[in-house]
Amino acid sequence: MAIVSSDMGAPRRGSAPAGKRGSAQADERGSAQAGELPVTPARSPVNRRLLDPSALAADSDPLAPAKADETGEASGTGWGEPPAREDGLRPKRLADYIGQSELKQVLAIAVEATRSRGEALDHVLLYGPPGLGKTTMALVLAEELGVRCRITSAPALERPRDIVGLLVNLQPGELLFIDEIHRLNRVAEEILYPAMEDFRLDLTVGKGSSARTRSLQIAPFTLVGATTRAGSLSSPLRDRFGLIQRLEFYNLDDLQAIVQRAAGLLQLDLEQQAALEVARRCRGTPRIANRLLRRVRDVAAVNGQLRIGPELVHEALSLHSVDSRGLDASDRRLMTLLLESYGGGPAGLDALAAALGEDSTTLETVVEPYLLQLGFLQRTPRGRQVTPAGRSHLGWPAQLDLSGAQP
Ligand SMILES: Nc1ncnc2c1ncn2[C@@H]1O[C@H](COP(=O)(O)OP(=O)(O)OP(=O)(O)O)[C@@H](O)[C@H]1O
Ligand SMILES: [Mg+2]
Repeated sequence: MAIVSSDMGAPRRGSAPAGKRGSAQADERGSAQAGELPVTPARSPVNRRLLDPSALAADSDPLAPAKADETGEASGTGWGEPPAREDGLRPKRLADYIGQSELKQVLAIAVEATRSRGEALDHVLLYGPPGLGKTTMALVLAEELGVRCRITSAPALERPRDIVGLLVNLQPGELLFIDEIHRLNRVAEEILYPAMEDFRLDLTVGKGSSARTRSLQIAPFTLVGATTRAGSLSSPLRDRFGLIQRLEFYNLDDLQAIVQRAAGLLQLDLEQQAALEVARRCRGTPRIANRLLRRVRDVAAVNGQLRIGPELVHEALSLHSVDSRGLDASDRRLMTLLLESYGGGPAGLDALAAALGEDSTTLETVVEPYLLQLGFLQRTPRGRQVTPAGRSHLGWPAQLDLSGAQP
């Protein structure tokens, strides 16, 4: 019934005390960040192999017992995610994963160390705004480790037996990816604590006076949690992750490379300048870059244009109300509301959400981060406020006497 930890014959897997695993990898991360390693991580042979695309061809690993299951589907268990449409564009190896250099360095070291020690990778928490590559990174990690990635999402783990079923079915070294992990309920969290620390399940059998607790050993595994709201995670859960990494918005160069890579995969003839135009408008987010590129492809197909230049990008994205800095209709509605009804702000999030008919969480996690990043919006103790840069982008006068502003 239980997958006992002594069943550890497979190469590069093993069980070590959780504390030891955690501290070893925390050390590596610390050193990498502090730059104390004699060889910088990016130049070490480890990372060169993991981060260099040319090394990939030679890196077919015959020892890998099972390849990452990109869809996360586990046949027969009834859970997992249907393959997303964007799957074709997902990078599969670390070397294909563009940008996020610090994240890649830290994880490349952890992966290599894990492989050499033959253990399960320490638990990883990835957090950051939507569409930056958290799910993609979980699948990349599984691919690099040569293990399967089981995908689920916290809201799907409502009943205790959902998470118990998942955990007992894990094979040694496998990755369990839990999306939106901040939405785990208390019972599921309590079950996860000993599972993460000691690969043990503490179960209660029976009811009332005959109830007894039983411990069940499970296979050493790696929990990869993803969240857009790291602050909403309970601290006991957060503290059990050995690697906690934030994903950053991508810079223009990386986005251009992402667009160009996607164009290659979609077999589009995209000029460099056109890739740059898409990159400028995608809010620092690869998922949006891919989406905009598909819209551009549609217009190119309808126009019968084989080569895509910047003018076509402009035409296609104007059609979808995406402006030159990537602001879309909902960004402009928020900014315009602030300017027209609150004299540029400050105004409270809930008031803005109610006026826009939006959910305040969506405003806070989806709309605002990019406006904040562009410096078009400010969060002040008294509420949200449009900055001079934001005003000028929307064509409002730079100087406005706030005291005289009409609500
Ligand atoms: N570093 C990258 N290089 C190239 N493409 C990327 C990268 N990161 C993400 N992508 C692309 O962006 C898409 C979205 O990424 P992903 O689904 O991993 O985001 P996410 O962070 O999990 O988002 P969410 O929080 O909404 O679940 C992927 O399908 C992939 O094509
Ligand atoms: Mg995701």
